Amino acid sequence: MANKKIARALAENLRALGIEEIATEGESSAIIEALGGEAAGAEGEAGRADILRREAAGVEKCRRCALASGRTHAVYGDGNEYAEILFVGEAPGAEEDRQGLPFVGRAGQLLNRLLEQVGLKRSEVYICNLLKCRPPDNRDPVPEELAACRPYLDKQLNVIKPQIIVCLGLFAAQAILNTKESMARLRAGEHKIGDVVVIPTYHTAAALRFPSYKQQIYDDLCRARDLAYG
Ligand code: URA
Repeated sequence: MANKKIARALAENLRALGIEEIATEGESSAIIEALGGEAAGAEGEAGRADILRREAAGVEKCRRCALASGRTHAVYGDGNEYAEILFVGEAPGAEEDRQGLPFVGRAGQLLNRLLEQVGLKRSEVYICNLLKCRPPDNRDPVPEELAACRPYLDKQLNVIKPQIIVCLGLFAAQAILNTKESMARLRAGEHKIGDVVVIPTYHTAAALRFPSYKQQIYDDLCRARDLAYG
């Protein structure tokens, strides 16, 4: 379609200028719709918390992929349903699987410390993952699992309608931005999906192994804070 060709050419020009715009077709259309469409939970309908609670109950029974058979709990998400800033990680680890909450293990504790250092409260943001169930031995998510679980994330984005999405780690950044770029390149660019700013950063689990990443996560969190509240 001619419009798509023009949009693609424009996106390439923007990319050459260091501005990463969301792709114009294919898998990205669901996220554009989720973020740009009418917010679920408008006045008069079920509130956002009710919708998220119902979704979480559905996810607890989900059998869309094989990860269901290994979970103790599904980990839907946690935080403020009116959050300006929404964090997306990769998948629950052992502690998250035990508690049914995201980012409560060592990587989560580091995230808590970094949030505190930049003056953000965990209770004012929303935190979730690409995958709602723990992969065995914390292995990487596979495409079938990502695809099966994606509608749950898109629903969270549609209900919460954040201003900023912070992607924790390469899997989250690549999935949200529909790209295969490296983290270094993604961090160097600017990204928007409609009006929503997407900030890719290193995963806090990676920062436990490579402490120099902490400063970069800190800087990215400062940017998210300033964009949301500055
Ligand atoms: N790593 C993630 O990506 N998510 C969690 O919830 C915990 C660790």
